[in-house]
Amino acid sequence: MDNSECLCSSDVAHWRKHLLLWYGKHRRQLPWRDIADPYRIWLSEIILQQTRISQGQPYFERFVKQFPTVEALAAAPIDQVMNLWQGLGYYSRARNLHKGAQQIVALGHFPNSKAEWLKIAGVGEYTAAAIASFALGEQCSVVDGNVYRVLARHYGVSLPIDTSEGKTYFARLAQQLLDTEHPADYNQAIMDFGALQCVPKNPICNQCPFADSCVAHNMQQVDSYPAKSRSVKLQTRHLVLLYIKTPCGILLHKRTASDIWRGLYEPLTLEFSSSPSFAEVVAAAQLPKEAVLRQVVVGLKHELTHRHLKVDAYEVCLSVPYERQGFIVVPETERSQYAVSTLVARIYQLLNSTD
Ligand code: ADE
Repeated sequence: MDNSECLCSSDVAHWRKHLLLWYGKHRRQLPWRDIADPYRIWLSEIILQQTRISQGQPYFERFVKQFPTVEALAAAPIDQVMNLWQGLGYYSRARNLHKGAQQIVALGHFPNSKAEWLKIAGVGEYTAAAIASFALGEQCSVVDGNVYRVLARHYGVSLPIDTSEGKTYFARLAQQLLDTEHPADYNQAIMDFGALQCVPKNPICNQCPFADSCVAHNMQQVDSYPAKSRSVKLQTRHLVLLYIKTPCGILLHKRTASDIWRGLYEPLTLEFSSSPSFAEVVAAAQLPKEAVLRQVVVGLKHELTHRHLKVDAYEVCLSVPYERQGFIVVPETERSQYAVSTLVARIYQLLNSTD
């Protein structure tokens, strides 16, 4: 399809019908489907942002068990929420979930439209459309990574999805295709179709109900869609973690900088522009002269979405009490009560295994 062409109504009807037929046969059974409970739907959508279902589902179950209602979630201490979120990454979602719960409780009811959901912390275009269609039956289409890929391939849309022109175009196309009589099922169907059938690598075109009409398949170009205007060049950051042990406990710092790890705890963490030597680490750490350092790992690779990290870690033993500004001293046996990033959890494991 040309990037400005209109859709013919019989093609739209064919698309909706066969997508819903496909969904009837292949749909995944998920605990947040076929319900109208806005709390569970909202919770599942926040958890599933940038997260695969297999990873997110156990977190969803644990959250529902520990916080069965939005009131329970709103009343919980933030540290408890962060702790339950631990390991899922993108921690701003946990902070927004907690803030969102408090907004909803203050409002006195769940938002009753997509526009109202957009006012809740952590809820953007995609999430608001998903919740409003699933919980309220509102006629709004979702556009996530799966939807971009499915539509770009089937309609041969070559506009890059990371440009405002591309985003506007796909939003309009998705809204035209939405089955307005079954918005919830239609949206779930197109996401499952992208997740199970029209997958990024080796899509199952030989058993696809749309093989005849799919532009990308017919041009043998499925790998070229969706188009992107730029490839993300990941930066490398060099971190050194110093796990300081004293007779009274270990030193932890709660991150306050507004980054992905805000609100999580960490040992002393230093950043360098390139891999530092041992002498550079000692000079930067400004530890008491009695400190004894043991190297735990060097050059550990850790991937984040927009960055590669290279991490060195040391255990620092002190036989005398030691306090440091910005740090709390925690008995090592109580360490698990302080939520940490996946990176720090990896270092904890290495510390245990190299003791
Ligand atoms: N990804 C995010 N939300 C989803 C949902 N409700 N169904 C399938 N995949 C999803």
